[in-house]
Parts: sequence; structure tokens; C-alpha cells
Amino acid sequence: MRRLIAALFCLVALAGNARALDNGLALTPPMGWDSWNHFACHVSERDIRGITDSLVSSGMRDAGYQYVIVDDCWQGPRDAAGALTADPKSFPSGIKALADYVHSKGLKFGIYADAGDRTCAGRTGSRDHEQQDAKTFAAWGVDYVKYDWCTAQGSFPPDAYKAMGDALDESGRPMLFAICEWGVSRPWDWAPSVGNLWRTAGDIGDCFTCVGRPPGPWLAMPQLDFKGPPPSFVGRMGLGVLQVLQLQAGLGFAAGPGHWNDPDMLEVGNGGMTEEEDRTQFSMWAMLAAPLIAGNDLTGMTNATKAILTNREVIAVDQDRAGVEGERLRYTDDEEVWARPLADGAQAVALLNRSDQARVISIDWQRLGLAAGAEKVRDLWRGHDLGSFAGSFSANVPPHGAALIRVAGGR
Ligand code: GLA
Repeated sequence: MRRLIAALFCLVALAGNARALDNGLALTPPMGWDSWNHFACHVSERDIRGITDSLVSSGMRDAGYQYVIVDDCWQGPRDAAGALTADPKSFPSGIKALADYVHSKGLKFGIYADAGDRTCAGRTGSRDHEQQDAKTFAAWGVDYVKYDWCTAQGSFPPDAYKAMGDALDESGRPMLFAICEWGVSRPWDWAPSVGNLWRTAGDIGDCFTCVGRPPGPWLAMPQLDFKGPPPSFVGRMGLGVLQVLQLQAGLGFAAGPGHWNDPDMLEVGNGGMTEEEDRTQFSMWAMLAAPLIAGNDLTGMTNATKAILTNREVIAVDQDRAGVEGERLRYTDDEEVWARPLADGAQAVALLNRSDQARVISIDWQRLGLAAGAEKVRDLWRGHDLGSFAGSFSANVPPHGAALIRVAGGR
């Protein structure tokens, strides 16, 4: 009997994999920029044009950043025919003109919508208008839709997201579909067949050690039979980088080319974290095969921020074509060790210092499934080979820092 049940579980898992969304998009985690973390609701078409220009002039486009995403607050009311319109004050030229501008710079254009009646900022939502809105987005030349969950009470997340996913599919224009319900309905269990990415936690804050505020009543979803840890730890706002990271452990099974866990956007360069902490967020997001969506003001970026966002070797870990998400191998109050197998047989390893003092952090080759012999180690942030190391490797890691290395030489 037990064998039969195990076999059934295997079949269900296989069927689940086979059903992963296949719209040909996001074969590696998407890279781009989104307006929310810096501009919040004070965003205009002029801001977006300026950011678009900076994405090109800063070298970010050439480093792989592709999508310019306008988050909440671009919307005006619906018109007489029920179609979405842009806010006439902040987006007077309309969304199509803005998308054309972004496209003219060799970039792709993304937009925000919401599964409820109103967006999180109280603008027009898409509930009961999914097909009409998907057609509007297609006509405007949208390439990426982020679909939020505010005011969607009474809807069942898998159904509400499928409704928009199907509408996008039927619109005839390929649009990357980014699910944003903050991880409350365990989307890693259902979203791979519905969207290209799904948020796994509440909104990130520009802070390394903050703990986000507890969820509000909008998270109560009696329809769902929550298994595993109760979702009560999922705050919606202001989660620190370490808190978000904590919520990612064990979710890698759901990710792969075309469908990714999304721990939310980057806070790199927004000023709330030290340069070391910014680097750590970038390192860990690369280990997680996370979307790399910058959220800082690219027009006034320091060289240090630019160097973090455009580090080719760290980006290459994030974008590794095998698409296997990193796994947490060790977790204590003071340190974490994560490892990620890469397509060429090497492994990326992050040695993260959670503490406020410098620490020596080690990784044994055995823990990586390697024989005890010598392995070549490369420091990815500095871009140089550190030499061959027998049995293990140790790094002296600054407080809140992460050493990111590549260990090569077979498995
Ligand atoms: C939610 C989302 C954020 C952002 C805001 C906009 O909080 O999780 O990423 O899109 O809404 O209002």
C-alpha cells in the first residue's frame, strides 16, 4: 500500500513538472529594473524615460538587464468602453508611447496590474477584466506583467492567476507573467504551471536585519489547506534581506528554466544598507536563481552600486543555464552556507556571515559531494583564481558579508 502511495506521489510530481508553463520566456531568471522600491507611487513617464536612458548609459543593459517595469500608480480610470487608461497627469503620453520608447533603446517593457478590484495603491484593478486588460497590454506592446494580490479577497489565488495567465496567453503577444501574492498560498506548489515567477515572501525593505510586520487579515484564505509551516510568519511589508532569505530555504525544487521563485526585488543602491550588505543581497539572489530586478535610482548611481549590479561573474551564477536553485547546507545564528550546481559541473558556494563580527567560514568538499582531493577555487567578486585547496576552503568574511566562490574540478 505504502509503495502504491509513493508511486502515486511520483506520478503527480512528474505530471506537475510536465505541466510547467511553457511560453518560451524567462529561460534564465529575468533581469531588469522596477519603479516601486525607489519611486513608489510618485512615478511618471519622465522618470521612466530617464531610467531607461541610464540603464543603457550605465552599461546595465549590456550586463543583461532587459526589462523596464512600471509598478503601481500608472493607472487612470477605465474609459467608456471599460479599457484601462494611463494616469493623465503622470503618464500624459500614454503607455504605448512609453513602451515604444523603451523598445527603441533595445529593452523590454513591463507593467503592473492587480487581481483585485483595486491595486495596493488604490488604482484600478483587473478583476473581471482579465481578457480586456490582457488585450490592452498586448496592444500597448507590453512584454512583462506583474500581477499583484491586493483587494482580491474572495478569490482563490490559483484560479485568479490562471484567469490572467490564460488571458495573456490568448492575447497573442508573449508576455512574461510574474505572480505577486507574497507566498501566502504556497505558490511554489501551484504556480510553475501558471506563471514564469512567483513571489515567495512579503515586500522586501531596504534593510539587512529588519523583521517585517506581521500579516494583516487579507491573508486569511480558508479555501487553502496549508501544509507545513503555517503562513503566519509571512509579513507583507518591510522584510529584511536575512528574513527574506530565511523564507527561501527548501523552495528550490519548484524552480527551473521558465519558472522561478521570486524573493522580491533588489534594494542594492537604495541607501538603507551598507555596501557590504548590498553585495550580500546580490550574492544570495544569484545563489537563489532569483530575478535580478534592480530598484534603485539609476540616474544617480554611485560607482560602487554600479560595480555590484554589473559584476559579470556573479550575474553568470544567477543566469546559469542549468537553472538549478542553490540549496542551504548550513544555518546557524551566525552563518549560512549555500551551494549551487552549475551547468559546467562546477559549483557556486556562498559563505554568509550573519553576525556583527568578522568570521572565518569553511566549506568541506565532502559536503559538496566532492572527493577530498584538491579543488580549484575562484573568488567571483574579485574575479581571480585563489588556487587549489585540498579537502576544504575557508574565508575570512566581514560582518554581514558573503564570500562567493566557484569550486571547480568535478563532483
Ligand atoms: C505590493 C507588491 C509590491 C508593489 C506594491 C505596489 O505591495 O508586493 O511589490 O508592487 O504592491 O503597490
